[in-house]
Amino acid sequence: MCGIVGFVGAQEAAPVLLDGLTRLEYRGYDSAGVAVVSPQYEIQVEKTKGYVKELSALIHGGADLHGTIGIGHTRWATHGAPSDVNSHPHLSEGGKFAVIHNGIIENYVEIKEFLINQGVTFRSETDSEVVAQLLEFYYNECHDFFEAVGRVLRRIEGAYALGMLCADCPDRIIAARKDAPLLLGYGEGENFIASDVTAIIKHTREVAYMEDGEVAVLTREGIEVFDALQQPVAKERHHIDWEVSAAEKGGYPHFMLKEIFEQPEALRRAISPRLKEGKIVFDDMKLTPEQIRAFTRVFIVACGSSYHVGMLGKYTLEHLTRRSVEVCLASEFRYADPIVDKNTLVIVISQSGETLDTMAALREAKARGAYILSIVNVVGSSIARESDDVLYTWAGPEIAVATTKAYSTQLAVLDMIGLVFGEALGTVDSAEYDEVVAELERLPEKMETVLKNHEDIQKYAAQHFNHNSIFFIGRNLDFALGLEGSLKLKEISYIHSEAYASGELKHGTISLIEEGTLVVALGTYGKLFDKALSNIIEVKARGADVLALTTEKHRAELEKTVSNVLTIPDTATMLLPSLGVVPLQLFAYYVALQRGCDIDKPRNLAKSVTVE
Ligand code: F6R
Repeated sequence: MCGIVGFVGAQEAAPVLLDGLTRLEYRGYDSAGVAVVSPQYEIQVEKTKGYVKELSALIHGGADLHGTIGIGHTRWATHGAPSDVNSHPHLSEGGKFAVIHNGIIENYVEIKEFLINQGVTFRSETDSEVVAQLLEFYYNECHDFFEAVGRVLRRIEGAYALGMLCADCPDRIIAARKDAPLLLGYGEGENFIASDVTAIIKHTREVAYMEDGEVAVLTREGIEVFDALQQPVAKERHHIDWEVSAAEKGGYPHFMLKEIFEQPEALRRAISPRLKEGKIVFDDMKLTPEQIRAFTRVFIVACGSSYHVGMLGKYTLEHLTRRSVEVCLASEFRYADPIVDKNTLVIVISQSGETLDTMAALREAKARGAYILSIVNVVGSSIARESDDVLYTWAGPEIAVATTKAYSTQLAVLDMIGLVFGEALGTVDSAEYDEVVAELERLPEKMETVLKNHEDIQKYAAQHFNHNSIFFIGRNLDFALGLEGSLKLKEISYIHSEAYASGELKHGTISLIEEGTLVVALGTYGKLFDKALSNIIEVKARGADVLALTTEKHRAELEKTVSNVLTIPDTATMLLPSLGVVPLQLFAYYVALQRGCDIDKPRNLAKSVTVE
């Protein structure tokens, strides 16, 4: 999704902006641009459709633009096609204002008409340009940058993170936020805005997150923040303690591969601090056992891979708590008139904490009185802030668009929630509780052994990357796991893929299985191993080429039927998908690699989906 960076300091701004935009590339974008105020107090704008490297070539790595204050943007097209003119920054007609914007100005048509009637000429098809033009319109009335911004914000509706420059006030950037992430970075004699901390961490680790309705004025000397009533706000600063290298590739050819291999470490961070003397203890959760017992309904709401975690969570939570759990796609939940009241718990899952549909579902549930417990990776993100309770996954920054380590840590946290709830409700068998806790402790190590087998998967992928369509089949936990395996594969390799509950195959889909169709058969769930085996025999009889996944315990048995068998170590049943997902991630990765795909930035996709 779109990225924002802004800088005011003593050094040349353009190279700082280009570097920040490069670090934001992982969010997905189709064009990029910068605006820098020149020593002659003119705003220079350079922008282009395409990648930051093209923008950088256009301005010779920034050498063409002199000035120590500027803003930069990577755009992911919503209103108006990807093009040079639709790229940000947008310059007002008189050249006095430059604006970068993430989000959507919902009433832009009406404002555009108003301004056109006032004689303003628009250049682009975007909703964002109205902000630049409206700023200039109000500024011509009041001759005060801050006041003009206030008037604009009162007039526009929708979601925005805005960075604004004024040629008459060449010492400052004004930033504003509503429903789109924006943070402030505090440096020594220099200050920053960014949509994401990775853009500026090279320069500062001291940040503050802007809240909805706030406006910030950044100069070289400092940052002042004001609320919607223009009253000064004292911001709480946060220290970012992860290393810059965490947002770099560290010798791996792709972020995705690096993040796959980071999973054991990420799991340790998510699990270890919450294991105390054989018990799961959430120091960071406010919910009490009494509150847990009082809930009459439980929903899990999320999108994409986070939703797949919820699918697995349904099986484990229902098993451990003997309460029914509904899993909903956030984009459906928000419009479904859900049966939610003050006795409802809604568990919201999101890596980014900024997914718009998930955020809207959270707000809908909250408005109906539900208690919101969220599982989030990005600290201080919107979903984290608006939840009653948040459990962080502590997976570190996830850069590749396709999620891996966030998925694994979300799953571990949800499993731990199941145990804590089961204990509060008295529904979890104590032997199972002890087994799962012991296995959670061993999970990172067992995952390391799965990762050691990556070359087997690479070899298999090298022989099977040319399929047009691949099926994932499994039952129960293995079905939910297949949904994730299938999504990973299709999003990065562009191969059509479907995940099917094995028992459903014969109700229609099996007609698609023919000689040579690749079927990834998941048979890790011991209780249903025999059923998995009979489904494998069923598809093989129709000519399918089968790649099977099971546990060490069942390897020998499966090898009698299937020649390509991948295995994972045995563990507690509910933790099997945590290990099973790793070979599927690697399979997707190596298939995409063989096909020469842009693995970290698959086409049409963005890391954080902040539009509906
Ligand atoms: C797939 C993927 C997406 C996200 C989805 C939700 O690899 O990453 O399906 O899981 O867009 O994003 P978050 O978890 O940030 O709300």
